[in-house]
Amino acid sequence: MRYTLMHREIAVIELELDEASGTIRSIGNIYALPHLPVGVSVKGGVPNRGELNKWWLGRAIPASRSGIREALELLNTPLPELLLEKCLGLSLSDQYWLCPKNSGIRWTEVNFFDNPFSEDVGNALFGKRPLRASPNLMSPDNTSDGWLKKKWVIIDGKRCLIKGGSNPYQQEPINEVLASMLMERLSGAVSYIPYRLIWDGGMPYSVCEDFITSDTELVTAWHIYNTKKKPNHVSAYDHFLNCCEALGIPGVRDSLDRLLAVDYLIANTDRHMNNIGAVRNAVTLEWRGLAPVFDCGTSLWHDQSTNLIGRVEVPSKPFKATHTEQVRLISTFDWLNIDALDGIGGELAKLLAGNPFIDEQRIQILSSALDRRVLEMSGIAQAMAQ
Ligand SMILES: Nc1ncnc2c1ncn2[C@@H]1O[C@H](COP(=O)(O)OP(=O)(O)OP(=O)(O)O)[C@@H](O)[C@H]1O
Ligand SMILES: [Mg+2]
Repeated sequence: MRYTLMHREIAVIELELDEASGTIRSIGNIYALPHLPVGVSVKGGVPNRGELNKWWLGRAIPASRSGIREALELLNTPLPELLLEKCLGLSLSDQYWLCPKNSGIRWTEVNFFDNPFSEDVGNALFGKRPLRASPNLMSPDNTSDGWLKKKWVIIDGKRCLIKGGSNPYQQEPINEVLASMLMERLSGAVSYIPYRLIWDGGMPYSVCEDFITSDTELVTAWHIYNTKKKPNHVSAYDHFLNCCEALGIPGVRDSLDRLLAVDYLIANTDRHMNNIGAVRNAVTLEWRGLAPVFDCGTSLWHDQSTNLIGRVEVPSKPFKATHTEQVRLISTFDWLNIDALDGIGGELAKLLAGNPFIDEQRIQILSSALDRRVLEMSGIAQAMAQ
């Protein structure tokens, strides 16, 4: 089947999809190379098809997503990659889509920012059987990343992402809320996405609003990191900064200072390069800066057995293997009012009180361990100021 890869209303290239596998079989006419997805290289005026396929297939729900096998069965679809075509590849995190050749479909009529969408896929991902025999697959959930159970919904006209946690503690949604509270206490020093907590069927979920609008888009740090080849002697951190500078993304070092400090404080173990991104205007291609901090749930010893909390070194990503090493990349703590975090452990204890998945002993240990991170960070910031 032939399509035009579109960036909002701009035709980028023509391509052909293989119907059995959902992969890009060939590339046809080329219209607007500057609008190609970031990280796809061009040689002799032709985009690299392997890289384009990696980008396209990377839009699909990952095979590691909790509940994906059951959901695909409910949706009568053999592979997550085949769901991409069913929603024209549209997403609520960027502005790329595939327009079937000669269909005359306009972006204004189909984009998920301005048009309603089906909840059949989201419900199937939450284990619910679709009400109709042939489910409506026009959903932004087909192009959502990450391994935790999640779905997009419209609440009071706003696009929101609802996301669950993992066994045994189901701590991630609570961690998202704690991270929001922590960043709020820093009074504007950190740009972040606020998360709130809801309970449904006895399970906790976090809810956050879409921070992308119909004229902006999120580009992951991973795609940015791949815009240049990393020389062996250059560190991952410097390479990322170099890529951002070459693209013209403003304020990156400052934003990373804040992100790495927050990740130290909450003992985040999963800040991989798809959990960092930059936002650009999808019409003018002008970069706004790094995205506000999102996805902080994989933190606060969420999968650590209670008696190891605070007793073993916390691993980190994406630049260094431990937080102790990673915070050394921070250029200044001038912006950090550490006193504002006094008693944040108590806030965590309050959030966790009465939680059926976490006992009282774990709550106390988590609360003290968080306060200890704040003390340690205070020491690190003071040492650097001297
Ligand atoms: N508020 C938002 N607005 C726009 N896009 C978002 C938002 N939150 C998440 N996303 C997109 O959805 C993806 C998945 O969300 P998220 O990272 O929160 O899920 P996750 O399952 O916790 O991921 P991981 O596998 O990293 O643990 C993100 O990488 C990002 O591309
Ligand atoms: Mg993520």
